[in-house]
Amino acid sequence: MSTMSHPNTVLIVDFGSQVTQLIARRVREAGVYSEIAPFQSADEAFRRLKPKAVILSGGPASAAELGSPRVPDIIFESGVPLLGICYGEQAMCAQLGGRVEESDHREFGRAFLEIEDDCALFKDIWAPGTRHQVWMSHGDRVTALPPGFKVVGTSSGAPFAAIADDGRKYYGVQFHPEVAHTPDGAKLIANFVHEIAGLKGDWTMAAYRDQAVEAIRKQVGSGKVICALSGGVDSSVAALLTHEAVGEQLTCILVDHGLMRKNEAAEVVQMFREHYNVPLILIDASDRFLKALEGETDPEKKRKTIGHLFIEVFEEEAKKLGGADFLVQGTLYPDVIESVSFTGGPSVTIKSHHNVGGLPERINMKLVEPLRELFKDEVRALGRELGLPEHFIGRHPFPGPGLAIRCPGSVTREKLDILRAADAIYLDEIRKAGLYDAIWQAFAVLLPVQTVGVMGDGRTYEYVCALRAVTSVDGMTADFYQFDMEFLGRAATRIINEVRGINRVVYDVTSKPPGTIEWE
Ligand code: XMP
Repeated sequence: MSTMSHPNTVLIVDFGSQVTQLIARRVREAGVYSEIAPFQSADEAFRRLKPKAVILSGGPASAAELGSPRVPDIIFESGVPLLGICYGEQAMCAQLGGRVEESDHREFGRAFLEIEDDCALFKDIWAPGTRHQVWMSHGDRVTALPPGFKVVGTSSGAPFAAIADDGRKYYGVQFHPEVAHTPDGAKLIANFVHEIAGLKGDWTMAAYRDQAVEAIRKQVGSGKVICALSGGVDSSVAALLTHEAVGEQLTCILVDHGLMRKNEAAEVVQMFREHYNVPLILIDASDRFLKALEGETDPEKKRKTIGHLFIEVFEEEAKKLGGADFLVQGTLYPDVIESVSFTGGPSVTIKSHHNVGGLPERINMKLVEPLRELFKDEVRALGRELGLPEHFIGRHPFPGPGLAIRCPGSVTREKLDILRAADAIYLDEIRKAGLYDAIWQAFAVLLPVQTVGVMGDGRTYEYVCALRAVTSVDGMTADFYQFDMEFLGRAATRIINEVRGINRVVYDVTSKPPGTIEWE
């Protein structure tokens, strides 16, 4: 739910498409604020947000079937401009008096759109008589248009692939303009929000910063605020924004659990204290964490131990400060978006994620979540706006439980030191090769396996280090990164030569699924 008010919002009604979030991204890239609401609560969202335009997403249901998801009437009654995408187009047609049927000619993937007529959606991109690549994914199709509509584009499988009712400013496309495989799609969405809905592209990170600072001031008043800094981008940006809003009312606490990467805690402390002058308490709790983890080999137990102890340590520190009224959290928009569920069934827990969940209730604090309206890229842009250095903003994600989950089996200080050294060399080589930004996440894993080797003239019996590097857009799915063998050979040689305790290096070529990115 929005914590700030945005006078020019586009509401995206989610019918359960896999790519609904991309619609929101494209609208925001056009400089217009957008929010997603599941179709079941779109009525309530429309009343609350008072959007200036609505986009209807795609979805797996069939508009040809009775009882399929519908567009709330309030949206048609309001008179705001409307863009229906795929299922959204079909639902709009079915509800406004057209017809949707199952089609024998299903279209999936690349297709070509023939432009039949001028349309405000196509302004400065597609002229009548031309043909353009688009991305389709549909079984049903519209077979009769509602009154007032005309065809502006066709494809071989969809005679009504793009339709328009200029009078009401209702538009529909059977293809997906939000995905990268529709190369001009982003411009088409920009045309909808700028040309058709008449919205200015004035939602920028500079504007967001001012608004967010105001909102934090209003929420916090003269209250005391604390923030758990993790060293990651999200908590750092949330902390800096809060500091800008309420200055010394904010104290940051960095709990060093001893599971961070080489020099990580020191760098964060230096940046916050010296560069930003933010009050920051560094707690070295590594002994406590390592003691609690002693002998523990079960991945879930390791994660839970770390999560609980983190809360305990943080709570103690908060008490020492005399408590606080507010806790800053770097919650992002993707964590907040309510997903469309057709079955209502619970999903399986693959891994229990570690964050400061549970803390606010225990210490009776209210949450300050200045990033809960932003996507990751937007947080990065905001970080730049706040002057965070580029190398910090572009850092790969790092999990809350840290190196503990990159050390399968039991965790010891000795193993962590070996892992830290190997990881630093691997990343140094990646940076030197200019590959850091092409990779979503890269790290070393220390396996609980020793193998025989020969170094100099002697026998060695040391650990195996696995290297992992993946590409991904959101961490939900991932591909292993295709290094060239020369690079891998170079990194392996350096690790074996420079790190005592490792005599063999392997590369992980598992994608996600079936693997996960982390090893535990
Ligand atoms: P997996 O291993 O589940 O990881 O494929 C997906 C992404 O999430 C990160 N990750 C975590 N991040 N707390 C976090 O903040 C956690 O407990 C956690 N576990 C995994 C992982 O590094 C990858 O980017």
